[in-house]
Amino acid sequence: MSKVIVITGASSGIGEATAKKLAANGNQIVVSARREDRLQKLVSEIKAVGGDASYQVTDVTNKSEVAELAKFAVKTYGKIDVWMNNAGLMPQSTLDKYKIDEWDRMIDVNIKGVLYGIAAALPFMREQKSGQFINTSSVAGHAVHPGGSVYSATKYAVRVISEGLRQEEAIAGSNIRVSVISPGAVATELPDTISDPETKKRVDKLYADFAIDAERVAEAVAYAVEAPADTAINEIVIRPTTQH
Ligand SMILES: NC(=O)c1ccc[n+]([C@@H]2O[C@H](COP(=O)([O-])OP(=O)(O)OC[C@H]3O[C@@H](n4cnc5c(N)ncnc54)[C@H](OP(=O)(O)O)[C@@H]3O)[C@@H](O)[C@H]2O)c1
Repeated sequence: MSKVIVITGASSGIGEATAKKLAANGNQIVVSARREDRLQKLVSEIKAVGGDASYQVTDVTNKSEVAELAKFAVKTYGKIDVWMNNAGLMPQSTLDKYKIDEWDRMIDVNIKGVLYGIAAALPFMREQKSGQFINTSSVAGHAVHPGGSVYSATKYAVRVISEGLRQEEAIAGSNIRVSVISPGAVATELPDTISDPETKKRVDKLYADFAIDAERVAEAVAYAVEAPADTAINEIVIRPTTQH
């Protein structure tokens, strides 16, 4: 059955590939991010192959914009079946570089953006007595490496918040599922957010050696979305076979 699926951070990479995959599977997709030209292009591409999609420009650090995104989805399609908190950035560097603005930014987008998404969509899902959150963490949410302290902290936080939400909704009997997707190296624009030259060089090499296509992650998300309603796929770790 067709689902209404909202995706943040859908203007490129994993969000874009997931929007295309879920639209191709017959769902109605609301894509959001800050770059309107990319969202317009994505919606046109989905419609050109017979899919159904709309967009709303949304900065996930702005809680009223995120609340408006949820209202837009309900106004346009009547409900929210799935909300994917996917927007994120990864300006990694060692702590001794003191890139405090980048630490703030990662916390604002990667953690607070997810919380704002939950706050925006949960009331509608509670009302419907059904729904699903897909929250994008990372293998960096399972392990920390030099240069990745703050990014990893944000991605661990995504897992912790998701597990708390899962338990609370199970107790509430709200029929809301929570899924965390933790990708390894995926070929997207993410490394472009790194400003520290040393870290950028290391990460670029890692991605050149290992990265898999974003479509692989999209397929895993589709699996979680399409699982029978009585079954929640809570955690997926997906990485290149050769990534160590
Ligand atoms: N690629 C990987 O190897 C990898 C691995 C593990 C986890 N992840 C996670 O996957 C998610 C998607 O990243 P990606 O790899 O697909 O990278 P990407 O191509 O750089 O996509 C990031 C997306 O986040 C959006 N975004 C950034 N700041 C935003 C803000 N303030 N408000 C709204 N949207 C914002 C960007 O859109 P705008 O710039 O248009 O706003 C873009 O659509 C992130 O959470 C990332 O941490 C990626």
